[in-house]
Amino acid sequence: MKKIPVWMDCDTGTDDAVAIMLAHSLAELDLLGISTVCGNTTQDHAFHNTHGLNGLMGTAYPVYRGAEKPLLKELLISTAFHGENGLGNVELPIPENAVFLQEKAWDALYACASRFPQELRLVATGPLTNVATAFLKYPDLPQLLHSLCIMGGSAGAGNITPAAEFNIFVDPQAAEIVFHSGVKLVMFGLDVTLQEMLTATDLEELRLSGGKAGSFTHACLQCALQSVKRYGLNGVSMHDSCPVMHLVHPELFEGEEAGVVVETRGSVTNGKTVTDLYSDKQFPFKNALVMLKVDADAFIRILKKQIVSLG
Ligand code: RIB
Ligand code: CA
Repeated sequence: MKKIPVWMDCDTGTDDAVAIMLAHSLAELDLLGISTVCGNTTQDHAFHNTHGLNGLMGTAYPVYRGAEKPLLKELLISTAFHGENGLGNVELPIPENAVFLQEKAWDALYACASRFPQELRLVATGPLTNVATAFLKYPDLPQLLHSLCIMGGSAGAGNITPAAEFNIFVDPQAAEIVFHSGVKLVMFGLDVTLQEMLTATDLEELRLSGGKAGSFTHACLQCALQSVKRYGLNGVSMHDSCPVMHLVHPELFEGEEAGVVVETRGSVTNGKTVTDLYSDKQFPFKNALVMLKVDADAFIRILKKQIVSLG
């Protein structure tokens, strides 16, 4: 079976960590590299956490540092949800054999895409700072990629503000560059990611499964679980696992082509992904496949099975 070449760009926080474990567990995928971006946490923590995941999984995925801050805005970090260190204050030690690569995220990503012309699937699960930087430095990269699947945006309400989803809000300028780059873009926004969640019961099942991956998932999401209980929710959405799951199980998802524009100048609406999905007025372009539905039961069933399979 020919594996699907994948590169992940993550602000390795808790659900990013679960998405990386999911990608590793899916035999159909060939995870070629992971780059780190600031968002859920600082670049230092995201980089450390991603190396720590290599230690947890017993892997040696190459990890590349990216941006230390958004293109224009000051860095906004959500410690309430992801804890001080980005992993719910669970410390993953950096493995002794860790190699601290000096190549920057955008350069390494371009080199990898050049080795797999029109085949590499880029999955971005954090703010789009690294992706935008890569597209600005290498104008042929959007067409060199097979596609870009992002966790970000929302056709409806936001989460970090009433209008904007966190990843886009942190760096709207980067998002605007990416949305207008011409890349084949699949957007997994809150519209679809909030349909699924790992409940407290699911997390307890993962803890009792006895494996390190299950125990870690349970432990790192406790902070987020307490945080969402304030809104009457009994589970944590695995936002970042959606684009990864779609690579292997597209049948679980439904979406529509749409025109999407990022609001970069508004104050109340800053970072809003404005789509023409439901309006009479249509944008003169369709620049994203916006995912709107997921079979949540199947999604969670497969996600739990894959985490347990890691032992
Ligand atoms: O809005 C959800 C997104 O913000 C997820 O990627 C989560 O990890 C945070 O980065
Ligand atoms: Ca993320």
